[in-house]
Amino acid sequence: MPPADNWTRPAKSWALRASPLRPAAEDIAVYRREIRSWHGAVAPGGVAALLLGVTPEIATMDWPAGTRLTAVDVSRAMIGGVWPGASRGQAAVCARWAKLPFPDGSHQVAIGDGCYSVLTADAYEATTRSLRRVLRPDGLLVLRWFTRPERPEAPARVFADLAAGRIGSFHAFKWRLAMALHDTLAAGVRLSDIWEVWHAAVPHPERLAAERGWPLPVVGTIDDFRGLATRYTFPTLAEARSTLSDAFDEAACHFPSYELGERCPVIAYRPR
Ligand SMILES: C[S@@+](CC[C@H](N)C(=O)[O-])C[C@H]1O[C@@H](n2cnc3c(N)ncnc32)[C@H](O)[C@@H]1O
Repeated sequence: MPPADNWTRPAKSWALRASPLRPAAEDIAVYRREIRSWHGAVAPGGVAALLLGVTPEIATMDWPAGTRLTAVDVSRAMIGGVWPGASRGQAAVCARWAKLPFPDGSHQVAIGDGCYSVLTADAYEATTRSLRRVLRPDGLLVLRWFTRPERPEAPARVFADLAAGRIGSFHAFKWRLAMALHDTLAAGVRLSDIWEVWHAAVPHPERLAAERGWPLPVVGTIDDFRGLATRYTFPTLAEARSTLSDAFDEAACHFPSYELGERCPVIAYRPR
């Protein structure tokens, strides 16, 4: 699991990131729809909701009236640099999701964007248990996943598509390369390995940026991975499903229509 200071670089370059790394308007529409339909069915009073991370698009979305949203993030750099909630009266707590510092059944909704991918697989089970513990039995969990395909792509194929102009955004390229270099779920992919492979294949990123019309600082976001032993994990959809299946029932699964959306399902769950 990454120590908190591994998020210092992303906290500084957050504004340069976009879909699929950050949720698109389409994802926010799905998050809202799932929360509203749960809210209509359960009809709670004010909603106690948890945001796993500090995703600004989720913090600022249109929550049911009376919602008390608390963000939980391990990185003080991300809370200080990216979290927009302080000015909105929303709290942010510095903690790990596997050890949520809240009583059992204290929350009704938990929502997270790409959370399990920033964990190593050995933290999956404790994270799932922790989420289930703090949620009420009639609660709701909504997660957007980053899933690798069942049949892996070769890194050479990703670079060939990059050279041929068949990849629409640098962020989609970065995720495809990361997934192509991914080992088993237990091993994940080491961030420094992504950077090394990238650097060997594209030694002059300024030329790529000019050719593709991508801002050089956006291309430079991959340099955040340089020298980091941190591992990300991209489960297959089946692995993602089995991760939660002991504690949650899947209620809905949406595949967004944007580039790489087939690898970014938003899944709504109800506690078992
Ligand atoms: C939610 S994830 C993925 C980013 C997401 N797609 C977005 O747009 O916000 C990134 C966040 O997770 C936080 N994080 C990583 N590991 C964590 C853990 N074990 N517990 C709590 N927060 C963690 C990081 O500090 C970072 O702010």
